[in-house]
Amino acid sequence: MKKKSVIIVGAGIAGLMAAHKLADKAEVSLLMKAGRLDSNSCMAQGGIAAAVGETDHPTLHARDTFVAGSGFNAFKRASELARQAPAMIKELDALGVPFEKAAGQYVLGHEGAHSKRRILHAYQDQTGLAVVETLWRTLSENVHVYENQYVLELIVKNQTIQGVRTVNHAFYGDCVVIATGGSGQLYENSSNEQRATGDGLMLAYRAGAVLKDLEFMQFHPTILKGKEPSLISEAVRGEGAYLVNRAGHRLMGKWAKGELEGRDVVAATLHKALQSGENVYLDARHLHDFPSRFPAIYRRLQRNGYDVCKDLIPIEPGAHFLCGGIETDRFGRTSVNGLYAIGEAACTGVHGANRLASNSLVEALVYGQAVAAALLADPQTKAGAVKPQPNKALIHGLPERSELQKMMSAYAGIERDAYRLQTVANWLSSFQQMPKKMVVHVDDLETGTMYELATLVVKAALLRTETRGTHRRSDYPSADEQWRKRSICFSVQNKAF
Ligand code: SIN
Repeated sequence: MKKKSVIIVGAGIAGLMAAHKLADKAEVSLLMKAGRLDSNSCMAQGGIAAAVGETDHPTLHARDTFVAGSGFNAFKRASELARQAPAMIKELDALGVPFEKAAGQYVLGHEGAHSKRRILHAYQDQTGLAVVETLWRTLSENVHVYENQYVLELIVKNQTIQGVRTVNHAFYGDCVVIATGGSGQLYENSSNEQRATGDGLMLAYRAGAVLKDLEFMQFHPTILKGKEPSLISEAVRGEGAYLVNRAGHRLMGKWAKGELEGRDVVAATLHKALQSGENVYLDARHLHDFPSRFPAIYRRLQRNGYDVCKDLIPIEPGAHFLCGGIETDRFGRTSVNGLYAIGEAACTGVHGANRLASNSLVEALVYGQAVAAALLADPQTKAGAVKPQPNKALIHGLPERSELQKMMSAYAGIERDAYRLQTVANWLSSFQQMPKKMVVHVDDLETGTMYELATLVVKAALLRTETRGTHRRSDYPSADEQWRKRSICFSVQNKAF
């Protein structure tokens, strides 16, 4: 029987895992918009959560995931993820990921909202890079790899996928897997890679798939403030670093878990302190093994003029992870035949309203594997021939990217209310009056996508009149039971529902 042809868009851990699993069973093309190591996965520092410790169990991991997610998670998904995590670690170990071990046991780190030490790490504080490099090194030569391919649109006929059109080519296939990662660049401060602009979400949306839970953007509490804004891993707080004001007063002192409360709580507390005119800092001066435990972070701080053993490190929260995305089932299937989504681009419901720290890499692995199995088992979709189309995009006059990021941070950031959200909604809609123009530069195409996605994010944030997890409305400061089981979804057919 003829092998299915599969196009995977995105080469972070989710896309690479899917490519691994499909390499000998399908014709696989792996496309990425930049180079092989230009993904958010490569920037992941903390590690991978898995219940492999002696006193740990997947039910505890699932419970922590659910509690961090404000009870908004699809509990079954959270349980499946936690159950499968230890097997994924074994598989990575067998492939050669150099997880840190002592006396043959994994060394386990601690992070916010985990009830156990369960974070595995490799290359000390560059776990994502260690996994990505291993997956590339061991990837079958059968996989056709295409770098620098910006996908303009998904080719769809009769609600069935036919392939993708990039700036220079058309790739035809039986299935397309979106593994394009996140959209942290919608905001001014972000831990994300420069190219994390949410393209995959809007490609899927334009092709008829459903987008869900977009109001749940997670902000990471500790982004280095200054010239080179970048993530300082939560694992640093896991090892005992404090969050303090200029006077050295601990800002999380009144919280039961202190610096290791859920990310939503920590980020909101820091945001409040910043709004009231305080500066906020990470204090790791007492962590004597910092340079050896976090060498990459240590070097980066040094480059920025900070000696972590002597200085307080100025930080602020920044956009980090979108808990929502393209709606999928537990195998990554979307509502469009032959179109699948995995990793941060997807919304399986596993993270609820606030992702538990270090669950993203494990999600990428578990769903990368699941999508491969489903895609091979699913019946072949046939939609007939499609006419070639020009590789062009027509979009509205656009705001400057930096202007868009500033507006999103100021009006749709950590703390929201109807007035602020309506202000940014009005600002965004003013661009729709401008004439459409042909766009060919990738930067402009990305900004166009960011603009469209921002419009949906703001709509969702306006509609959800409660505070839950990462979505914090100062005009609706409590969680509302009526919203606990309600998701806000968008599709081109039904608009918002
Ligand atoms: C971190 O190292 O703090 C990021 C880990 C994560 O977001 O899961």
